[in-house]
Amino acid sequence: MKGILLSGGTGSRLRPITHTGPKQLVPVANKPVLEYAIEDLKEAGITDIGVVLGHKGRDAIQELLGDGSKYGVDITYIVQGEPLGLAHAAGCARDFVGNDDFVMYLGDNILKSGIAELVESFERGDYGAGIALQKVDDPQAFGIADVDDDGNAIQLVEKPEDPPTNLALIGMYVFSPAVFDAIDDLEPSWRGELEITDAIQLLLEDGYEIDSQVVTGWWKDTGKPTDILEANRLVLEDKELETAGVVEDGAETEGRIGLAESATIEDGAVVRGPVSIAENVTIKHGTYVGPYTSIGANSTLEDIHIENSVVIGDSTLSASGRIVDSLLGRNADVESADELLPEGRRLVVGENSQLKL
Ligand code: G1P
Repeated sequence: MKGILLSGGTGSRLRPITHTGPKQLVPVANKPVLEYAIEDLKEAGITDIGVVLGHKGRDAIQELLGDGSKYGVDITYIVQGEPLGLAHAAGCARDFVGNDDFVMYLGDNILKSGIAELVESFERGDYGAGIALQKVDDPQAFGIADVDDDGNAIQLVEKPEDPPTNLALIGMYVFSPAVFDAIDDLEPSWRGELEITDAIQLLLEDGYEIDSQVVTGWWKDTGKPTDILEANRLVLEDKELETAGVVEDGAETEGRIGLAESATIEDGAVVRGPVSIAENVTIKHGTYVGPYTSIGANSTLEDIHIENSVVIGDSTLSASGRIVDSLLGRNADVESADELLPEGRRLVVGENSQLKL
């Protein structure tokens, strides 16, 4: 079995964070979202992985993943170019996949329980495809499946106005190579894309059985800033966190704290886990880092109170004040305006930024 990891898309809902890089590289608990997908594929026994690249951030993705050897997998890059839909992306991987079955994993999705069960269940039968499903509150926003008592899909529809169920297709699929013929027969949807949901419906109509697995652990599509914060919270809740760095006498720590070896929590700082603090971070006197916060590498925090937030890295935060529920891009600095005249906040804010002052 092979794997294809879709890493294209424009990341428009994550601007300005994605002005400088692809959405799949935004870190959750100090690890790029895409690395969680590689780990899930590997855990399911899949080491031959095709990474499908769009226009955006190709170099950054290749630089991070390399040939895959650092993860114990073998990576082949496939260029999709124009983002014409998930089925188009899968179609681009046809030569790579050949006559093998394959998993297709959306690179901006992250889920608690991995994909091993989905793969094992597919392999137990003679299926055209296997789909992972989860109940959602807003079924109009997803691909939706109806299934029979044996868990076989009986209908699939992309973003239905009148959903037959609230079982959404989450971004993990297993396919037999038969899916490529279905993709050849697709017409673009109302949004101008070749929909993978429609390809699976065509397989069904051609007489193939479609396996389904309802995923019970959490699943997050990390498309929006609030999704990144929630994924960060969910991962920190589950993850083993190791305190390898320096906690000075006089620092107050509580709960689970991931502290990289070269990071320091100084005398007079307060840190309450779960938090993740990356390499070369200094948490200085007067700082409070509260639960569900990740601080990216090469950052310095002083006087600030921060919780339920993600700081991507290379930041200096030194204002006295509270930052909550926030996502700060690389190199973002927050300093105090207290001593400055005229009084007032001073902002250099990128396009599509959101500030609540
Ligand atoms: C895509 C798929 C949809 C699926 C969703 C999962 O939607 O088309 O079937 O339910 O991913 O995240 P999109 O994110 O392109 O709107």
